[in-house]
Amino acid sequence: MAVSNKQVIFKNYVSGLPKESDMEVIESSIQLKVPEGTKDAILLKNLYLSCDPYMRGRMTNLETLYMPSFEPGLPLSGFGVAKVLDSTHPDYEKGDFVWGITGWEEYSLITAPDHFFKIQHMDVPLTYYTGLLGMPGMTAYAGFYEVCSPKKGEYVYVSAASGAVGQLVGQFAKLLGCYVVGSAGSNKKVELLKNKFGFDAAFNYKEEPDLNAALKRYFPEGIDIYFENVGGKMLDSVLLNMRNHGRIAACGMISQYNLDHPEGVHNLVPVVFKRVRIEGFLVNDFFHLYPKFLEMVIPHIKEGKITYVEDIAEGLEGAPAALVGLFTGRNVGKQLVVVSRD
Ligand SMILES: NC(=O)c1ccc[n+]([C@@H]2O[C@H](COP(=O)([O-])OP(=O)(O)OC[C@H]3O[C@@H](n4cnc5c(N)ncnc54)[C@H](OP(=O)(O)O)[C@@H]3O)[C@@H](O)[C@H]2O)c1
Repeated sequence: MAVSNKQVIFKNYVSGLPKESDMEVIESSIQLKVPEGTKDAILLKNLYLSCDPYMRGRMTNLETLYMPSFEPGLPLSGFGVAKVLDSTHPDYEKGDFVWGITGWEEYSLITAPDHFFKIQHMDVPLTYYTGLLGMPGMTAYAGFYEVCSPKKGEYVYVSAASGAVGQLVGQFAKLLGCYVVGSAGSNKKVELLKNKFGFDAAFNYKEEPDLNAALKRYFPEGIDIYFENVGGKMLDSVLLNMRNHGRIAACGMISQYNLDHPEGVHNLVPVVFKRVRIEGFLVNDFFHLYPKFLEMVIPHIKEGKITYVEDIAEGLEGAPAALVGLFTGRNVGKQLVVVSRD
């Protein structure tokens, strides 16, 4: 029997800042069973959807992306947490909880569920598998421990520090015994960084007319590690403040995602004489470390040594606003959308 299936449809390719009207919520219908004769498929009930900055790239018709563009007229897709309602795949059975790339809709038929993770630890909030225990958490873990080569006592700077990835990078760096400063785009976020996530210091970059001067104030001896989330003017100012043998983990550059012409980087000369390593990375290359990550992070969560702030939008109707809000800093913490709580 077919049931109604609410979906968030991608309307057309976007230039500039994405808008809620680039998407629309419609009612479709779906059978709650894998179709007869379809092998290795799963039918999911989506519970929580993750809003992620990389989705902006998928709203563009570009062949150079590392993920396929969204197709106009079809639902968006992205990381999410779901319950298996039916399965013809040997690795999944009805009742399993999973996270992976699913549709922005109530129910999804996934015909190649090769990249889903089965959720084993149910004694933590399930929403965490969109953030702390999902793709952003793995990004923070891989970016900090694998790319930054951190050492106790080093000076660490994190931009977009209160977001899904940044709030964890800061906490990982504190656990290791680093001095950590974060920047964010509102005073409320700055308070969170200092009082909830335990950063040593934090500042509102929108209130700093001279970013170079601000960084000199917080890092009089310079920066060993920059966890780069924003790019643009921030990166240029950081380059003037790196220490010898500093590392920059290029995780993302959200300030550039909506520009038709990216800003240039000007201050590259210090990279030479300070022997700075700038290394880009994609979380996709590190998912083999997921079990090791869980082994480290789950006890920390249970002992209260790692905390996580989520920004929860209720219902698929709120999903377009939640997604576009990432690009104006509307989200406070990890932005996710609740499709259903059971
Ligand atoms: N390499 C990878 O595999 C990988 C994986 C996941 C994420 N990422 C990247 O990591 C970064 C953070 O992602 P996230 O999921 O943690 O997002 P997030 O920080 O939770 O949300 C995005 C935040 O970016 C800030 N922002 C938006 N527009 C900006 C601008 N023009 N200039 C400066 N800041 C701006 C806003 O915070 P403020 O209010 O503080 O400005 C906004 O809240 C992004 O660049 C993303 O693309 C990379």
